[in-house]
Parts: sequence; structure tokens; C-alpha cells
Amino acid sequence: MDGTSSVAVLRLGHRPGRDERMTTHVGLTARALGADRVILPEGAGNSLETVREVTDRFGGPFEAEATDSPLGVLRGWEGAVVHLTMYGEPVQDVEGAIRERIRSTPLLVVVGAEKVPFDVYEAADWNVAITNQPHSEVAGLAVLLDRLFEGRELDREWTDAERRVIPREQGKRVESVEE
Ligand SMILES: C[S@@+](CC[C@H](N)C(=O)[O-])C[C@H]1O[C@@H](n2cnc3c(N)ncnc32)[C@H](O)[C@@H]1O
Repeated sequence: MDGTSSVAVLRLGHRPGRDERMTTHVGLTARALGADRVILPEGAGNSLETVREVTDRFGGPFEAEATDSPLGVLRGWEGAVVHLTMYGEPVQDVEGAIRERIRSTPLLVVVGAEKVPFDVYEAADWNVAITNQPHSEVAGLAVLLDRLFEGRELDREWTDAERRVIPREQGKRVESVEE
């Protein structure tokens, strides 16, 4: 996104079956709202494939990859780390400092599924809460990205898409990009 270094989203934890839709939606939300890539845990069912298929159909650039060690990705990250947690500091208090830092530094955004190990809280530069109420990693990720990009992601141009949605007041219209 203009004015920002790269942003990657790391999905930590995945309970087979139960978390499949949420893990997929973490990937789709990362893509739609301006992140550059998502890193999903290996064995997250069809989530990786679904995110890649959506990128092939509706465009990028966006990378989706899998790791057998999400904590290893976190430990090896060279850049800033934001961990989304209801126990963290309110996003409205820290968004300015995060925005400033990621002008020139890659950002890793970590979202959990089940209980997140305490190491993650310690490894993060910012533990960030989107309200201090329990809700969802997908909602938290969407609000964080929109705050960091200050809405610019809503006007993003997509490249290499096969299909494009034509916005309409009513009904649905999807065109092949060659048309
Ligand atoms: C359903 S929650 C489960 C959290 C788990 N009970 C724990 O204690 O870590 C899954 C993920 O959603 C995100 N999340 C939930 N509520 C949040 C909030 N208010 N602010 C930021 N992230 C939140 C966090 O990333 C969390 O790891």
C-alpha cells in the first residue's frame, strides 16, 4: 500500500474442522484489505488453496503461503510485529506510532485461534486491542488494516484478475477482464 512498507499476516493456531472458515477468512480479509501476504499454518485444510484461487480469479498482487512453524516465522521476523489481542492497548492509542514505524519497516500482524502462548505477547512490539472485548480475529484484522492504511486500501487497483465485479446499485454484475 502507498506510504507503507510490506504487511504480512500470520495465522497462529488452527483447530482442524472448527477453524477452517475462520482461517480462510483471515487470508481473504488480509488480501481484500491491503496486506501483501498471508502465512497460514500447514494442515489448515483447504484454506491456502481457497485464498490462492480467489487471488487468481479476482487479482493481486497477494501471496499466500504455509509454514510448519508459525512461531518460527515470528521469531525470525525482521521488522515490526503487531499481535492482535483483546488484552492489548487500544488501537486508537497506538495506530499513529505503528503507522510511523511501518513507513520503512515490514510489519507482521499476528492473529490467534485458540489460546496464544505468552511468548507471542513478549515478541510483539505492540499488543493491540480492537476494543478490549472478545470478538473475532477476522473483525480485528479488518479494523487494524483499515486504521493503518487510513482507508486507502478501499481504492486499491487489482492486477492480473480474471474477473472484475462491476459495482451496481442493485443486482450483481461480474465481467471477464478481457471484456
Ligand atoms: C476467538 S479469539 C481467542 C483468544 C483466546 N481465547 C486467548 O485467550 O488468546 C481468537 C483471536 O481473535 C483475535 N481477537 C479477538 N478479540 C480481539 C480484540 N478485541 N482485539 C484484537 N484481537 C482480537 C485475537 O487475535 C485472538 O487470538
